[in-house]
Amino acid sequence: MLSLQHARCLLLLRSQSRASPWGWRTATAFLSTTSPATASPTSQPSHADLTLKEIVAQIPDGLGSIPQSRVRNFSVIAHIDHGKSTLSDCLLELTGNITSAEKKAKAQYTDTLKVERERGITVKAQTASMVYRHPKDGKEYLLNLVDTPGHVDFAYEVSRSLSACQGALLLVDATQGIQAQTLSTYAFAQEAKLSIIPVVTKSDLPHAQTDDVTLQMATSFDMDLEDVLVTSAKTGQGVHAILPAVIDRISAPGGDPTAPLRARLIDSWYDPTRGVVCLVQVVDGSIKENDRISAHSLAAFESFSVQEVGVLCPYQLRTGSLLTGQVGYVIAGMRSTRQAKMGDTIYHHQKGAAEAAEAGVDPLPGFETAKSMLFASIYPLDTQDFDSLELAVNKLTLNDASVTVQREGSNTSLGSGLRCGFLGLLHMEVFNQRLRDEFGTAVLLTSPTVPYRIIHSQKEGETAEVKVIQTLADWPDPATTPNYRDMKIEEPVVEATILTPVTSVGAITTCLKERRGVQEDVKYLDDKNVVLTYRLPWQEVVTDLHDMVKNVSAGYASLNYKEAGYASDDLVKVELALNGEEVDALSFVCHRTKAEREGRRVALKLKNVIDRQNFEINIQAKVGRKVVARERVAPYRKDVLVTKAGKNVGGGDVTRKKKLLEKQKQGKKRAKMVGKVSLSQEAFWAVISKD
Ligand code: GTP
Repeated sequence: MLSLQHARCLLLLRSQSRASPWGWRTATAFLSTTSPATASPTSQPSHADLTLKEIVAQIPDGLGSIPQSRVRNFSVIAHIDHGKSTLSDCLLELTGNITSAEKKAKAQYTDTLKVERERGITVKAQTASMVYRHPKDGKEYLLNLVDTPGHVDFAYEVSRSLSACQGALLLVDATQGIQAQTLSTYAFAQEAKLSIIPVVTKSDLPHAQTDDVTLQMATSFDMDLEDVLVTSAKTGQGVHAILPAVIDRISAPGGDPTAPLRARLIDSWYDPTRGVVCLVQVVDGSIKENDRISAHSLAAFESFSVQEVGVLCPYQLRTGSLLTGQVGYVIAGMRSTRQAKMGDTIYHHQKGAAEAAEAGVDPLPGFETAKSMLFASIYPLDTQDFDSLELAVNKLTLNDASVTVQREGSNTSLGSGLRCGFLGLLHMEVFNQRLRDEFGTAVLLTSPTVPYRIIHSQKEGETAEVKVIQTLADWPDPATTPNYRDMKIEEPVVEATILTPVTSVGAITTCLKERRGVQEDVKYLDDKNVVLTYRLPWQEVVTDLHDMVKNVSAGYASLNYKEAGYASDDLVKVELALNGEEVDALSFVCHRTKAEREGRRVALKLKNVIDRQNFEINIQAKVGRKVVARERVAPYRKDVLVTKAGKNVGGGDVTRKKKLLEKQKQGKKRAKMVGKVSLSQEAFWAVISKD
């Protein structure tokens, strides 16, 4: 444990030596000769100027000759935006995976998806294998880095990636200190029994509070101060100390190289020409090209010939084989999500499925299935495109196992669609954007609803019948449901952790109370920051709690949450109807005390976003039989060929007229008909957006 005097001494030495980027590391070497974090500036890899391919070419027998004892699998975890991808880029540059020019041309190399680059967030864990020559023993190590997403909606992605790792770099931004997500990822990593290397990032920024944050990490996580690495991915300060620390502080993966093959499928994606590409972690034995493989969940007769094997750097580098402990890709001609099931165990075919059990090869523990926290329906804009939508969704779920999909019942007013389960609002938006970006499939998403539970009371001694409602069409109608009053309605609740400066505690607790939050715990992280733990209805969190927490704390507080079961409350359905026809996709559930106010808000919002059409549209919000809001969209007939001044467009120019009519047709295509009313995506967002 760190003594206070030791801590002060270290911080003093560090502040005295700040002139040189390597200074404080050198200074700490005098205090702690045992700490691997004390790498001197001279201890840099000797092959830093070579590309990965050149390095691999130098190793006799390629990567296959790197023994298991020289493999390290680690992930980079942190609160959102604390610099995971930027630091990963630096490590990739340091090991020759990318050149400086490539890094400059394309920042955040591990964020490969269009949606990630556009939004500046990581949504998929990205694996990158590096070869690094340890300055201490001059030997090559195969380091497998996993850059993970920071946002809580992608926590499932993080938990899966951690299963293939023995250690993690826990990053904390020097300008922000520990945040809510830092606490949860730390807890995740501890649960997975990973060796944790604490790293302070962005130390170059003028308002960085490097010493305070280092001390905060050491005290909050009960770590030695000299074990905390201080880095800047912008100036390169301290980055060279990371990989030696990874080798020295994280153990090599276990597993028996002589045992029959057991590899866990940790991710997959669809390549239009090669079929499914699987990312696997070889736990026992090895896998090489031309092997015949099968998977635990497949029938004994189903097998595949391995066409290509390699590591991700993050680009694919063909190696021909993967040995015990290594993580890499396998292409074996699989075609569907059923054949490449997340968490499945891959065997050699002669020891596949039933035979494997006979031969005593146990399947590896799989992954817990992700629990959907939100449901929304996806519809093709043109009903005829349903089959291609279903195909695109199937391919995308290969790469996002946390989405659940089932065909929508045919009784909806919107035609054929897919009911999908997501982990949160951002997850849903990202899935929608990926469908568009990666498969060119434009869809209409209904307003999301959380899964409610209806519990029918039973006679004493009998188990109650529980029905989970994923679509509001199944909400019981008080007028027609027998024994409605005896039913219990439950909603999902979450345990929210809010890390806030002491000065914002009052404002935040007021907002949490308004959202039906119940305080569970208050803990001081240090004298400036408090950790509040609240139990809240998930429905209240999903829409705008994150924005509220940021607004009332001037951006300083952060929020994280985890699922915490169900709780009953007085919930009612607010029905939205257009020209007398109820539209479930616009209806919503809320607490009885807020129902009228929310009904009025949504009806007014709809009035503002529904395009005027050539007939009148009446919008009604009802709670039970009571109409709580009425709005009207006046009829309008738009002739695009007439200007505002009433003149005909383009005179005799036919092409201009055609262009305008085509544009109008495209606009109509982006909307969906509900009865006679055409609804655009904005109408469905009106239910959840609070602005
Ligand atoms: P998510 O994956 O979305 O959680 O983000 P992340 O943790 O990967 O953070 P990212 O690497 O995207 O960095 C967030 C922002 O911080 C970007 O604008 C980076 O340029 C910036 N940044 C990252 N590291 C440093 C650093 O060491 N110094 C400075 N000055 N800026 C940095």
